Amino acid sequence: KRIAILISGGGSNMLRLVEDMQTLGYAAPVLVASNDPSAAGIAHAGRLGVPTAVIDHRLFGKDRAAFEAELLKPLLAAAPDVVCLAGFMRVLTPDFVRRFEGRMLNIHPSLLPKYPGLHTHQRALEAGDPEAGCTVHEVTPVLDDGPILGQARVPVAPDDSAESLAARVLVQEHRLYPAVLRRFVAGTRTRLDL
Ligand code: GRF
Repeated sequence: KRIAILISGGGSNMLRLVEDMQTLGYAAPVLVASNDPSAAGIAHAGRLGVPTAVIDHRLFGKDRAAFEAELLKPLLAAAPDVVCLAGFMRVLTPDFVRRFEGRMLNIHPSLLPKYPGLHTHQRALEAGDPEAGCTVHEVTPVLDDGPILGQARVPVAPDDSAESLAARVLVQEHRLYPAVLRRFVAGTRTRLDL
């Protein structure tokens, strides 16, 4: 199976996915693309021998469709079976999502359906939640809303800040995403709870 990964920044989730595929051989990373030219993950992916592409979304202003038309060029050329969003911070249009529906995954740093969107850790702290976590789900045209493929939970500590909670959740993201991708590639659609 051919896996393309979209990132926007450090790409720590992308790195875990690439390392997992290269170690276990169940799939091949065929492209890592970013909307941000300064994404550190692009250099890391290149060092791991993965083809990369950068499409700077700022060159397209508010024209989301034009940005996506440009992003589609390397993405379709890579002919991925699965597209993984990993720390990808651009909202994709329904038209773009529909091209990959049923084979596009995303990792979101909350226990969906709680806290779709941004600032998830701050919101969990403000709500006084005893636990938090992350979710891997299939991407559908509605933001952070598709079928859940896996979740991992962490306790919230009384003295947690958004940063300390984010760091604890990120460790679980790095466990969850590779495990869910392996299952997804094998055809398993039942959810994994870590
Ligand atoms: C992580 O907090 C992840 O939950 C969110 O983007 C952040 C950065 O991820 N999706 P990464 O290190 O770029 O994979």
